[in-house]
Amino acid sequence: MNLILLGPPGAGKGTQAQRLERSRGLVQLSTGDMLRAAVKAGSEVGLKAKAVMEAGGLVSDEIVVAIIADRIAQPDVARGFILDGFPRTPAQAQALDTMLAQRGLKLDHVIEMKVDDAIMVDRVTGRFTCAKCGAGYHDRFHKPKVEGTCDQCGGHEFTRRADDNADTVRSRLDAYHAQTAPLLPYYQSKGVLRSVDGMAEIDEVTRQLEAVLAGGASLARAAN
Ligand code: AP5
Ligand code: MG
Repeated sequence: MNLILLGPPGAGKGTQAQRLERSRGLVQLSTGDMLRAAVKAGSEVGLKAKAVMEAGGLVSDEIVVAIIADRIAQPDVARGFILDGFPRTPAQAQALDTMLAQRGLKLDHVIEMKVDDAIMVDRVTGRFTCAKCGAGYHDRFHKPKVEGTCDQCGGHEFTRRADDNADTVRSRLDAYHAQTAPLLPYYQSKGVLRSVDGMAEIDEVTRQLEAVLAGGASLARAAN
């Protein structure tokens, strides 16, 4: 099964993709994670992406499409994938269509995580991540069961993202509405768009996603 999780910064794409990886054996393909790894490694791509990411803008389609094309060619992706943070522009969506057609693959669902922008700044600025395994947490909404210890791997070191400050989040929200939201009607017209209530509690969002994957027709997104 191949999915896209679509939603603004803080919508819960990464949180839910990690859960679907564990429950369904799908592979999470997060362009944000790939770009952050490139920045950390100091590669050519990382050097080009760093300033754009810190300002909350979008990295060029050319760079991002090349990263995904490389990743989608790897054998583990045949298990099924969850795209998290890609595509983000109409050009990326078209490049994805071409890549999938070349590989004889199709998208089963594009799932919009519907949220209110007002709370996204709180969500993103409170986020932290296990430095060892990448599990995601939140200062208020999702604390580790034992303070200072990762639930998943027992690690004790946590990191925060350089772009998780209030000003940058606002720029990222603007980029989402200007450049990514236009993909909703595109996928609606292809008949693959579904939605879940991203404002619900994390477990409830997972339940709604599982219902979509199980074919719950009631969650199909109504035409506007
Ligand atoms: P990316 O890493 O994709 O960031 P983003 O889209 O801004 O989304 P986030 O990762 O901030 O949010 P999320 O939806 O994953 O939320 P999460 O689950 O962590 O991209 C970063 C940058 O890279 C971009 O700005 C751009 O520069 C560049 N980039 C990446 N892809 C690109 C592309 N395709 N083209 C061009 N540039 C690209 O949840 C957030 C917090 O809320 C967590 O702490 C979590 O615990 C908590 N939480 C989650 N769900 C809930 C809930 N239901 N209730 C309460 N709390 C919740
Ligand atoms: Mg994320």
